[in-house]
Amino acid sequence: MSGTGPATGAAGGGQESHVQAPTGPESGFPALPAPAGLPRFPLALLPTPLHRARRLEAALGAGPLLLKRDDLIGFGVAGNKVRPLEFLVGAALDHGADVFVTGGGPGSNFCPAAAMAARAAGLECELVVWGDPAGAPNLVLAAAAGATLVPTGDTDREAVDRLVEERAAALRAAGRRPFAVPRGGSTALGAVGFAMAAAELAGQLAAQLDEPPALIVLPVGSGGSLAGLLAGLPAAGLDVPVLGVSVSRPPAAIAARVRQLARECAELLGGPPPLVPEIVDARGPGFGSATPHERERARLALHAEGLLLDETYGAEAFAAAAERLGNGPVLYWHTGAVLPAIGSITKGAP
Ligand SMILES: Cc1ncc(COP(=O)(O)O)c(C=O)c1O
Repeated sequence: MSGTGPATGAAGGGQESHVQAPTGPESGFPALPAPAGLPRFPLALLPTPLHRARRLEAALGAGPLLLKRDDLIGFGVAGNKVRPLEFLVGAALDHGADVFVTGGGPGSNFCPAAAMAARAAGLECELVVWGDPAGAPNLVLAAAAGATLVPTGDTDREAVDRLVEERAAALRAAGRRPFAVPRGGSTALGAVGFAMAAAELAGQLAAQLDEPPALIVLPVGSGGSLAGLLAGLPAAGLDVPVLGVSVSRPPAAIAARVRQLARECAELLGGPPPLVPEIVDARGPGFGSATPHERERARLALHAEGLLLDETYGAEAFAAAAERLGNGPVLYWHTGAVLPAIGSITKGAP
């Protein structure tokens, strides 16, 4: 059983788009119904807030700046990763799984989110982790939420997805019913979570704003969040340019992966073809480290607006969003990583 194969087959593949914008300010809460045929295990408190950041605009000397607050998503400190997990855990339950198998590294926000989501659904969770898991706050949280950590014993990140499949096969051979999901939950099915977020945003924009954003900016790791957004925006009637800020892979490599995932997600939804994003390189000093300029932007956001931005995703993407102000409203999608943000602040940064 895997997060891609059987779940894709469950889509139904109808012709009409199943992603619909809500019609009024309250209609996004509770969550929009899942697209036909896709089981969803509700975890998030939706819609996440959308607001204008006027103090931050004043501090930056530019605007308008809108914030979409997935850091306030209301399940653990799991941020954007709650959105794919609603569909991945839904599929795991639908397939009669008893253990959710996935993985990541010491800094993974997906790992604790998956651990908590699995536990909330009554599933066990096994996490294949590269690198040194000892004392890494996200993995400590995952273990506290009941997950079993399976260290790979080396620093090869790319091997994790294969080892997740191998671990699932071993569990199956032992009579268990595993549901395997690659790092970050970035499958076409996981991306449906962010396609639904596009519909949620369309409803909020219609209710709250006269003018749609001129640009949406978000950080990109494994690509599922951006892919879902690109599939969901046209389905929700929003033709807004999207800037993906790549923090771990070269833009050309992640662009190919995002295109593929976005196409598969749009097919799963039976919606129109996905938008094509701009992707910029924000790997800077390396995965997990922000530049002094990005740290300075994160500090400004903390001081002006009380935003907690981490050094792997948030500081990089927010700095890129701030750079684009001045040509119409920019919407910065705050994807969470609150635990690492607090971790770096309490260690003396930014
Ligand atoms: C806080 C945060 N923001 C953004 C991302 C990137 O999302 P994706 O992996 O879907 O590209 C991640 C990935 O783990 C994340 O933890």
